Amino acid sequence: MDHLHEQEAFAKLVDRIGPHHAGKRMEMQAHYSAFLMHGHHFHVHLEEFAPISWALKTLLKITGVWPIAVRNSLRYTVVEHEVPLPHLPAAFEGFRILHLSDLHIEGMVDKGKSLAEALAPLQYDLCVLTGDYRFRTFGNYDKTLTLMKTLTEQIHAPYGISGVLGNHDWLEMVPGLEQCGIRMLMNEAQPIEKGNETIWLLGLDDVHYYETGDLDKAVKSAPQNVVRILLVHSPEILPEAAQAGMDLYLCGHSHGGQICLPGGKPIITHCRCPRPYKAGRWRYKSMRGYTSRGVGTSLFPIRLFCQPEIILHTLRKIPIEVETACCYSQSV
Ligand SMILES: [Fe+2]
Repeated sequence: MDHLHEQEAFAKLVDRIGPHHAGKRMEMQAHYSAFLMHGHHFHVHLEEFAPISWALKTLLKITGVWPIAVRNSLRYTVVEHEVPLPHLPAAFEGFRILHLSDLHIEGMVDKGKSLAEALAPLQYDLCVLTGDYRFRTFGNYDKTLTLMKTLTEQIHAPYGISGVLGNHDWLEMVPGLEQCGIRMLMNEAQPIEKGNETIWLLGLDDVHYYETGDLDKAVKSAPQNVVRILLVHSPEILPEAAQAGMDLYLCGHSHGGQICLPGGKPIITHCRCPRPYKAGRWRYKSMRGYTSRGVGTSLFPIRLFCQPEIILHTLRKIPIEVETACCYSQSV
């Protein structure tokens, strides 16, 4: 996109999401960049704090673990996840959703080649992307968009690709991501129609760092008595989402820890929610959810005891018992 078209596309986006949302996002992005430029790295993201990064890299290289951990970052696991939804319209029985999260695509050692190869044999109806397209949290994103274009050309979803922003992504990336064929949901709702029946996708802006996600706004954009699937970058608003009657909550952000202890126990997740919701499938009251371990990496292109995962959610019209999760409290 040339500069003039970029400006026009961004002005249309501001019109669409409203000046308040756009203004808050841009202001926080500016503060964040200024914060980094003044050397306040540690309080923002661990990956921007050079001494810790250097120490970790040195330790892994000295111990010989580094090349194994780099290889792990490309060893994609395909996870099949069946989602029981009692009110699922009959036309959507067996509907398959490919879920990719935390691509951090220009940080991949092979720039997405192995991921595209892993995706090639898979069959799905819709693809959803739950944020973090860029590797770093600031700076130029041209390479991110170029690589996303190459990847999305290899995703063949009859019902399209929909996505939300993560905390590594900037608002200015939205027009470019939409040019890649991704329908970006910015506190918006999208109907998915099959036969004469419809389910709805709701997607929020980042709730982790920028806090510009607006669940109420998205909820008001869709009918109430329908199956609603919520896309959010992180699992941090699951009580609110359950309260709002969401049926399925798809997210990522935690990377499942990325560098874990044997057995997959995460050391750090940067996720303000209890451990059971930080990776994999979960249930909160009657809402089902899945927190992706992600396909990419942050800080370094390495993974230990935590493989990158491609998830295929299959919707099933099966009743689920309503159960209150015992392990959630806001303070954990
Ligand atoms: Fe991420």
